[in-house]
Amino acid sequence: MLPGSKRVALGILFAALAEAHAAPIQSASRGEMLYSTHCIACHNAQVHWRDKKLARDWTTLQAEVRHWQKFTNLGWSDEDVALVARYLNTLYYRYPEAEKPGEQAGSAY
Ligand code: HEC
Repeated sequence: MLPGSKRVALGILFAALAEAHAAPIQSASRGEMLYSTHCIACHNAQVHWRDKKLARDWTTLQAEVRHWQKFTNLGWSDEDVALVARYLNTLYYRYPEAEKPGEQAGSAY
């Protein structure tokens, strides 16, 4: 292989790697950013691991997130709701998620 084409091949490889990593990192930090900007003021971590949890599984967790963003008039999309629910799930709840984010996110309210 010529040095020039090797460089091109490497460039493609790195571009592919960067793309593969970009999405999950970005969504994790967006969920965290949304939560710490809009939600953390009223409750500390304790609300997420008390005995009588309102979020009992992935569906009710998403319903809680949906409820609270409505409560504060944030107008989040389904995707933002799912990202924040996933952030909290990773941090505290560890419920198995539904296959697709945003699905089965029926509101309990
Ligand atoms: C006005 C204050 C306030 C704001 C703002 C707020 N919360 Fe809450 N949150 C509460 C209170 C109080 C509870 C406990 C409710 C209860 O026990 O009935 C709670 C409970 C929850 C729960 C359920 C915890 C559990 O497992 O029992 C979740 C999830 C949650 N909030 C997410 C959010 C998210 C996401 C946001 C930002 C969009 C948010 N909250 C903003 C006050 C607030």
